[in-house]
Parts: sequence; C-alpha cells; structure tokens
Amino acid sequence: MLALRPARPEEGAELTELCLRFKAVWGYDDAFMAACRKELTLTPASIRTSQVQVAELDGRLAGVAEVKSAGDTAQLEKLFVEPAMLRSGTGRKLLDWAKATARAAGATALVIEADPDAAEFYRRMGAVDDGLVPSGSIPNRLIPRLNLPL
Ligand SMILES: CC(C)(COP(=O)(O)OP(=O)(O)OC[C@H]1O[C@@H](n2cnc3c(N)ncnc32)[C@H](O)[C@@H]1OP(=O)(O)O)[C@@H](O)C(=O)NCCC(=O)NCCS
Repeated sequence: MLALRPARPEEGAELTELCLRFKAVWGYDDAFMAACRKELTLTPASIRTSQVQVAELDGRLAGVAEVKSAGDTAQLEKLFVEPAMLRSGTGRKLLDWAKATARAAGATALVIEADPDAAEFYRRMGAVDDGLVPSGSIPNRLIPRLNLPL
C-alpha cells in the first residue's frame, strides 16, 4: 500500500540519488545527469527549510516531491517516481500533496518548471503552459513552465 510521509533530514543523500535515478528514466546521458546533480540535491538543511514528502510502497521509497511556497505562488521543486511504478498513480498522489501544501501556505498557483517529457503529465493534471524558461542545470536549454491553479 502506497503511503506518504514527510522526508527526514538525514535522508538527504539517499533522496538525492533517488531523484537522479528517477530522472534518468528519460534516457539522458551521464554528462547531462552530472550537470543536473546540483539542482536535484536535497540536503538536511533543505529538507528542514522546505516541504519535502516521500511516497513509500511497503516501506520502500517510491517517490519524492518538494514544494517551496512564497506569498501567493509556490514552486514545485521536485517530483520523481520510481521507474518501475510509473503510471500507477504515485505522481498524482504526490502532486495532490504538493497542491494541498501550497494551498495551506496561501498560494493560489503552483509553478512548475518541467522536464519536457513530464509536461504532458502536468497538463493532464490541469496545469496550463506559461512559456519556456532556461533550465537551471543545462546552459542554453529551454524547458516548459506550467502554472497549476489551486
Ligand atoms: C512525471 C511523473 C512524476 C509522473 O508520475 P506517474 O506516477 O507516472 O504519474 P501517474 O501514474 O500518477 O499519472 C497520472 C495521469 O497522468 C498520465 N501520465 C503520467 N505520465 C505521463 C506522461 N509522461 N505523458 C502523458 N501522460 C502521463 C497517466 O497516464 C495518468 O493518466 P489518467 O489521468 O488517465 O489516469 C513520472 O513520469 C516521473 O517521475 N518521471 C521521471 C522524473 C521527472 O521527469 N519528473 C518530473 C520533473 S519536472
């Protein structure tokens, strides 16, 4: 049974490796993944200061999401699901948590700077396109920005 719980600060290193492994599902090469490492890193401090939630299936980590809220908008910083579990509802559950968390912090929209391969998932979840923005990891790469009204 899939269960959600807050991440623990001491899980930062393990969750960082998990984010990298889960993002690699789109077939990126080693150089691309190395360039993403900084942006996908979770530390004990970042887990303490932002909102990070993990999904577990029978005690094993199956997904992770991070939200940062500021005023009336919130940013979905991370959303990653175990490749063996794709398309089984874990992403939707974690996104529902992210929406509720952002709403509770007073946000009226959740902003997502998405991997291009994940953008269609967010559109299915009700997000609308809001242009392209520079990737935080790869120079000269533009990625879709989406806005999910809360
Ligand atoms: C994007 C991601 C989080 C989606 O998670 P998931 O658990 O597979 O999604 P769900 O099973 O909850 O899917 C919910 C719905 O979206 C659809 N969907 C999921 N991924 C999709 C995709 N890539 N393209 C189109 N539709 C998609 C599902 O079919 C399902 O449709 P339904 O409403 O008809 O049931 C997951 O693919 C992932 O972790 N990818 C690798 C890391 C990544 O790129 N994360 C996003 C960073 S911005």
